[in-house]
Amino acid sequence: MAEQKKAFVIGYPAKHSRSPMIHTYWLEKAGLSGSYEMFEVAPDDVAGFLASVRDGSGGYCGGNVTIPHKEAALALADIADPLAKELGAANTLWVEDGRLMAMNTDGYGFATNMDEQSPGWDNTDRAVILGAGGASRAIIQTLRRRGIGHVHIVNRTIERAQELAVRFGSGLTAHPMDQINEVIKEAGLFVNTTSLGMGESTVPDIDFGVMASQAVATDLVYTPLLTPILAMAQRKGVSTVDGLGMLLHQAVPGFEKWFGIRPVVTTELRDMVIRDLEKHP
Ligand code: ATR
Repeated sequence: MAEQKKAFVIGYPAKHSRSPMIHTYWLEKAGLSGSYEMFEVAPDDVAGFLASVRDGSGGYCGGNVTIPHKEAALALADIADPLAKELGAANTLWVEDGRLMAMNTDGYGFATNMDEQSPGWDNTDRAVILGAGGASRAIIQTLRRRGIGHVHIVNRTIERAQELAVRFGSGLTAHPMDQINEVIKEAGLFVNTTSLGMGESTVPDIDFGVMASQAVATDLVYTPLLTPILAMAQRKGVSTVDGLGMLLHQAVPGFEKWFGIRPVVTTELRDMVIRDLEKHP
């Protein structure tokens, strides 16, 4: 019988992750008999869990790492790709010749989704990012690599935005929330990386009408798909891209590493995840 490959996602606490649904869909489509499961692993147990991945005793070929283990995963890996190192966080692990390998696919997922949904989205020299957490870092890195010269980071806690501006170098500026309608003027891209718009949170009034013509707005929040921020942008004629595609695309490189086939993000997969999000937001 062929070896049954096993992959995992670890987090703490275990949230209702959509990753098992995405990878199981691809396994079934490819007719592979592997598995992908979510495990709750406490911070103190991450090193032991990953050691069992590296030495093969856990029986895993690799997996994903989510909040709050992304930094630990990078630190515990033997070899990490340059993007993950620069971010200080990894979300995808696999084993090669007894070594634990790490990468970060968040930026890949973001850029691939934007390329697909809004070709030319990076054809601007001025972007505004709301938020300065882990997700924001991956987006800033991606915008820099796409050559966007001026990136304005707006954050409730200005110090965190300033830290990122220093970390990623020239062309980045940090701003408090009340400057958002100033810095958004003539911007060609707006990205919300905060949880604002999820649940009951109140969203600040953002004046999307002053963005450049052809501007694009996107939101990493995907519950609901049309977030309050995206709805506000649409009302001002700004085109929008929802955040679900990033979740689907960031999963592609991991699946390929573990199971040897590059999977495809299809409308069928997207619709399946949307139905699940409607049932369990
Ligand atoms: P992630 O890794 O998902 O980016 P994070 O590191 O906790 O998560 O960062 C969350 C981001 O959302 C931060 O920019 C945070 O602002 P602060 O740095 O001021 O905490 C932002 N955020 C969360 N809730 C917010 C709210 N109610 N209003 C404004 N910003 C909020």
